[in-house]
Amino acid sequence: MSLSVADAAYLVAAVLFIMSLAGLSRHETARGGVVYGMVGMGIALVATIGFLVLPASSVVLLIVAMLVGAAIGLWRARVVQMTGMPQLIALLHSFVGLAAVLVGWTGHLSHPDLAGSLRGVHNAEVVIGIFIGAVTFTGSIVAYLKLSARISSRPLVLPGKNALNIGALVVFVALTVWYVITPDLWLLAVVTLIALALGVHLVASIGGGDMPVVVSMLNSYSGWAAAASGFLLDNDLLIVTGALVGSSGAYLSYIMCKAMNRSFLSVIAGGFGIEAPSAAVEEQGEYQEVSAEQTAELLQNATTVVITPGYGMAVAQAQYPVAELVQKLRDRGVTVRFGIHPVAGRLPGHMNVLLAEARVPYDIVLEMDEINDELRDTDVVLVIGANDTVNPAAAEDPGSPIAGMPVLRVWEARQVVVFKRSMAAGYAGVPNPLFYRENARMLFGDARKAVDEIVGYF
Ligand code: TAP
Repeated sequence: MSLSVADAAYLVAAVLFIMSLAGLSRHETARGGVVYGMVGMGIALVATIGFLVLPASSVVLLIVAMLVGAAIGLWRARVVQMTGMPQLIALLHSFVGLAAVLVGWTGHLSHPDLAGSLRGVHNAEVVIGIFIGAVTFTGSIVAYLKLSARISSRPLVLPGKNALNIGALVVFVALTVWYVITPDLWLLAVVTLIALALGVHLVASIGGGDMPVVVSMLNSYSGWAAAASGFLLDNDLLIVTGALVGSSGAYLSYIMCKAMNRSFLSVIAGGFGIEAPSAAVEEQGEYQEVSAEQTAELLQNATTVVITPGYGMAVAQAQYPVAELVQKLRDRGVTVRFGIHPVAGRLPGHMNVLLAEARVPYDIVLEMDEINDELRDTDVVLVIGANDTVNPAAAEDPGSPIAGMPVLRVWEARQVVVFKRSMAAGYAGVPNPLFYRENARMLFGDARKAVDEIVGYF
């Protein structure tokens, strides 16, 4: 295949990727978006392999590697639970980071024949690509470990945490300049080690409640790492794709920061979640239990009901009985709506996907900002497997690790029923005073079973 045909194919693939992103931004067009992305990636792969001039043995190696990779990818994607998706995505980001590090090192070892300023540009590409790649690699692995609860989601608070981060960046800039002038191998080794350590530190020091922003930042970093590799490999499509992922990930992080009332700049600097959360769990008073039957009665007497789902609904797969309950209530003339917090669950849009799966109509699924002011006029709020996203401490306790994060103000409703299995804290590890409020009742047990039981009383 001639280079110009490959270039044309790259252009088509790039346009398809942009259409894919546009499609993915709305429920109704998301399926189409996925198809555009798959076709674009297919074209990109064929074009890339098509114009490579390689010995037959390398082509065989390449194809075998692709088949093995594709088989593992297909298997993982088929078996992964929806609740396991964020950690899988974090793991996939780590591969992009690792690939960028390897491409960077190859760029150093292959000594391309470049003169003057071009050599300097090449050297800068090598060291910057390795830095971004290594931060993404270890940062994503720590995110994977935290999200899959293999390590604690509590923030690591080292003394002089910010100074460590800034110090690492200053050393990186100095070493980059040094490497551009004299590209010695040991400089690259030091940059790689610093970046690997920085990746661990940046993500380890972020508290559980702030992890969503970190995941989308790592998504963005993985895009920039791919773009850096694109420069080194002289591959336009990789640059375009990397920039698309990098900028859309950065924009998503920005939206999340706004939604969670965090400073975007301090996230990029890895400087938030700084405070050590107070370990003391204060005695919060008495909580009141309620049965499924009593909850059914409460619902039968209500005219307005709001359901705020969270991670527990996903774990219990309670969306199906919840959809059934909603139907029963609507049939009785009760106004039922959902209030969705932007970081409910473990990945952006997690709750929306589950509710769509259970065929809940889109028009009763509202965003947090759309429903919050109406909660005070609501008869009953059902908090199904949500915890951090309905925690009044975020609004009322300036010392709380999640202080300032906007939450669904469910406690303003006349009655709140909280579905969970125990009094345990949510993902951020912060105690929730909601459970002890006068108008709150705890319905203990698996959310799916509890909702099923309630449906049985209708
Ligand atoms: P969480 O605060 O994680 O709380 C979920 C609650 O569900 C837990 O308290 C748990 O209590 C309960 N639960 C678990 N399994 C259950 C089951 N089978 N039946 C009934 N209840 C069950 O949930 P949230 O309010 O959705 O908040 C999300 C948290 O995750 C936030 O801190 C957010 O920052 C973080 N996070 C979000 C994302 C994104 S992008 N959405 C990504 C990473 C992290 P029991 O154990 O007592 O049952």
